[in-house]
Amino acid sequence: MKAMVMESLGSANLRLKEVPDPKPGPGEVLVRLRAASLNFRDLLALEGGYGSRQKSAHLIPLSDGAGEVVEVGAGVKAWQAGDRVVGCFFPDWLSGPPNEAMMARDLGGMEDGVACELRVFGAEGLVAMPKSLSFVEAAAFPCAGVTAWNAVRADAGIGPGQVVLTQGCGGVALFALQIASAAGARVIALSSSEEKMARLRQLGAQDTLNYKEDPDWGKTARKLTGQRGVDLVVETGGAQTLKQSIRATRMGGTIAMIGMVSGPTAELNLPLVAMSSLRIHGVAVGHRDHLAQSLAAFETNGIKPVIDSTYPLEALAEAVAHVKSGKQFGKVCIEIA
Ligand SMILES: NC(=O)c1ccc[n+]([C@@H]2O[C@H](COP(=O)([O-])OP(=O)(O)OC[C@H]3O[C@@H](n4cnc5c(N)ncnc54)[C@H](OP(=O)(O)O)[C@@H]3O)[C@@H](O)[C@H]2O)c1
Repeated sequence: MKAMVMESLGSANLRLKEVPDPKPGPGEVLVRLRAASLNFRDLLALEGGYGSRQKSAHLIPLSDGAGEVVEVGAGVKAWQAGDRVVGCFFPDWLSGPPNEAMMARDLGGMEDGVACELRVFGAEGLVAMPKSLSFVEAAAFPCAGVTAWNAVRADAGIGPGQVVLTQGCGGVALFALQIASAAGARVIALSSSEEKMARLRQLGAQDTLNYKEDPDWGKTARKLTGQRGVDLVVETGGAQTLKQSIRATRMGGTIAMIGMVSGPTAELNLPLVAMSSLRIHGVAVGHRDHLAQSLAAFETNGIKPVIDSTYPLEALAEAVAHVKSGKQFGKVCIEIA
């Protein structure tokens, strides 16, 4: 089979290679991958950003893939050839709170990912694809969709009448906007251009703020809520956004600490966090049930994830460069012939 292999650290070292077809053992399932999607974390993994918590050579990258079952190993009852499936980001975290063992294996990090034609999955590390989604759309979910679902619905339980603030037009932010809107919440979305803000409003954001033109956007967001503050910030910006996120959040509200697009360290105004009874909640993707729930929510509500672009497998380095450019609106995906 064909696979994109990072021979040593750096996206310049990605090569399309012919490697032996894998075979499913007992309890395993062989999947022909049809699509994959990229996440910001794949850029980090390609540069060795996860240190000893990732493979640093001969890595097949990417965590998020969807495809068709080709063959099942001995003892597998849940799947059969022809089933359309999506793979979990953490194949050992199936439900409930996480622990180290459940998060020890992640695709495209500690072990090979899905930038290949065939891959063996543990039977439990797969979820059925809803009929309403294409392979590319389903491949958008395992990291970004699950993270947004975990933050907005599973943890914060956002519903009608509540206000959610999202940051930018990356995968997590757009999933969060769609999930919060479908739950009946009001969304205030940040972006850096008029054109992107218009698209965010089309997707359901009631208000948009330009974080470049309005560096004090936390105060503006608070004003938009009649000085009450937002119930939840889906914090993907990191260093340059946390201070404003704290200003934007209502007393007793939640900041879902997810990403660091603008840098990994930030100063915290501790008295403000304490006196506002803020809850800063770290989110690390999510479990298999979150994947199933997020896919079902999109099917039930008749909505689709936002796909920015698709590339063929052999053009993975170009797809990586596009994510690095920050010009995308939604998910950058790979179609696997
Ligand atoms: N903890 C977890 O489980 C988890 C899971 C998934 C992702 N993440 C992290 O979450 C972050 C986002 O991931 P992603 O894949 O969705 O990213 P992405 O697709 O690379 O998103 C980049 C977007 O961030 C926005 N942005 C950049 N600087 C900003 C700033 N100062 N203020 C507000 N927005 C800003 C830009 O929006 P505009 O173009 O609109 O300006 C850009 O489109 C990354 O740090 C990633 O590692 C964490």
